[in-house]
Amino acid sequence: MGSLTDRLQTLTETVKAHSHSYHVLNAPTVTDTEYDALFSELVDLEKEAGWFVADSPTHRVGEPPQAKFKTCKHGSRMMSLANAFSDDDVKAFALQTGTVVEHSHHPQAFYAEPKLDGVAVNLVYINGVLATAATRGDGMNGEDVTAQVKTIKTLPSQLAGDNIPTKIEIRAEVIFHKGDFALLNVKQLSAGEKVFSNPRNAVAGTIRNLDPRVAAYRPLAIYCHGIGASEGWEKPAYQNLVIKQLSRWGLPICSPCMVVLGVDGCLAYFKDIQENRSELPFEIDGVVFKVNSLADQKKLGVRHRDPKWAIAHKFPAEEVTSVITSIDVQVGRTGALTPVARLVPVRVGGVEVSSVTLHNFNQIKQKGICVGDTVIVRRAGDVIPEIVRVVQEGENRVPLAAPTNCPSCGCATIGTLTVFCTNGMNCPAQLLESIVHFASRKAMDIDGLGGKLISILIHSGLVQSVADLYDLHYYRDGVIHLPRMGEKSTDKLLAAIAESHNRDMSRFIFALGIREVGESTSAILASKFGNMHSLMNAKMTDLERIDGIGFEVAAGVVSYFAAPHNQTMVSRLLDFKGTKWASMPTRPQSQGSQRLAGKTVVITGTLASMTRQEATDRVVALGAKVASSVSKKIDWVIAGENAGSKLPKAEQLGLVIINESQFAELLNG
Ligand code: IVH
Repeated sequence: MGSLTDRLQTLTETVKAHSHSYHVLNAPTVTDTEYDALFSELVDLEKEAGWFVADSPTHRVGEPPQAKFKTCKHGSRMMSLANAFSDDDVKAFALQTGTVVEHSHHPQAFYAEPKLDGVAVNLVYINGVLATAATRGDGMNGEDVTAQVKTIKTLPSQLAGDNIPTKIEIRAEVIFHKGDFALLNVKQLSAGEKVFSNPRNAVAGTIRNLDPRVAAYRPLAIYCHGIGASEGWEKPAYQNLVIKQLSRWGLPICSPCMVVLGVDGCLAYFKDIQENRSELPFEIDGVVFKVNSLADQKKLGVRHRDPKWAIAHKFPAEEVTSVITSIDVQVGRTGALTPVARLVPVRVGGVEVSSVTLHNFNQIKQKGICVGDTVIVRRAGDVIPEIVRVVQEGENRVPLAAPTNCPSCGCATIGTLTVFCTNGMNCPAQLLESIVHFASRKAMDIDGLGGKLISILIHSGLVQSVADLYDLHYYRDGVIHLPRMGEKSTDKLLAAIAESHNRDMSRFIFALGIREVGESTSAILASKFGNMHSLMNAKMTDLERIDGIGFEVAAGVVSYFAAPHNQTMVSRLLDFKGTKWASMPTRPQSQGSQRLAGKTVVITGTLASMTRQEATDRVVALGAKVASSVSKKIDWVIAGENAGSKLPKAEQLGLVIINESQFAELLNG
């Protein structure tokens, strides 16, 4: 290990280089968390040494403005925020602010708000009219991005109401809402343009583009969170009242923001926002606490680059780096070959991740991923982990080509974007995955029948088709003699298989694993056809006539039932006595039950009080139609927990989105 001086100089250079890549090049070389860690290390090292390199990043904000922009000089410095990574850090902050403010203020009041992950701007309003907008730059001088910021529809060019200052600086964050960001990337992809790795990156790329038409085409959003220099107005005495005034002037303010009391109030707010983060329409990387009294803020003053009266309490890492140790190819129930990257295990977003699906071979090519590469792994909230990009290439890189033979059965593959094994249920991997799906909770819900046991059943030769499950016997087939099976577990398994005769037709359709047919589509098909026989004989035109069923679904259904092995398997299943799968019970039409006639709804996410199919049955019983995809024709989108991509699309289309309790009200009239 080198001397303290050497380490200090090296670390200063490293942090400076990362800061330049982030602020100037808009191409971060490390994750935010890694940057924060390096930055904290540098702060500690400088403390230990008692000195710092002249232009240390710990003593300045951001980077000087780029020459390609006109420069704007800020009226007062735009600062950064110190970070807290633990409850103890927040306690230390509260303790430190508490020693300066007057005792009468105990417990201390803090203004708490989300920490938006976007690009900071300084808006200058002169006599209520938006004059300039500039990036933070080095804190004193920023880049003039007035034309770009003026394209933001929610930002008023003129302040409304009274108490308008002769001049005021308003500090704000420019962001993309999650849904808009997703759509932007879809557009980028279809135009053959580069995909942005996160919303903040996209904002920086948009706002720092000299051509304001780029910003005009992209739906940027902005939220104001403070003020800088101001004159000619009655300035409130508290941060929350400042924000209230900004809102009265018509400026967009993000929520939820509130006054909290003491450390307990801060930590409760942090916990609440952390738990409900996925429901916010924008990305945040933590929360911010500010001493609420402006007089106390003044007393506390500032350090080199951040005020002593505010702190950012950051969430645990959602992006980390790891190394790819191998790339395996998995065969799914539809025969699709999926590359899966195995990683050196890392903790990200609160869980350990050791493998990440790469979706298809095209993605590997696009992202330039090879075994040995160091990559950024991302996992936000409940989102499945993904590899964002390569940060450092490994040695002896060999690009992975799409296999020409199935890794499970050796049969030839077809397809380019997605590659498929052509061996159907003769492929052991496809058979295994299709039975896993058939037995899964949302399908036939066969308790205790998981992947390992199914694999044993297949390899013992007892099960070669889903239908064989219903022919299993205690002694005759020797289930009891299989590895891991005893008397009790055999009893339990056979009882669970028998119990699955009670599932209805909708679940049965879903369990078959027909391409493009998910839970809601299965419910639509069950309620429209009423029995399996009609569904099995349906033609493309019969299917496409149904609301919510498009060409892809219709083709999936027709081609599934056209395959002789599927016909045999489904017929065998339907021949078993006592099943409820073959048809839907006819529903009595009660008087006044068509209250929702003419309405079309989409159900997305998980509802706590009922399954998706029960929800479908209930709205259909009231006369409404249930569609499987979001479009302008939809009247309501019923959004449960963990709603997927349908939700941002619905928001984008301006559809009416209702939550579970509103849905209950709708059902109950
Ligand atoms: S207050 C003097 N409040 O985070 C106080 N900043 O990491 C400085 N940010 O430069 C800003 N959300 O661009 C504040 N609610 C919020 C914020 C916020 C996001 C940004 C801001 C700042 C950076 C510091």
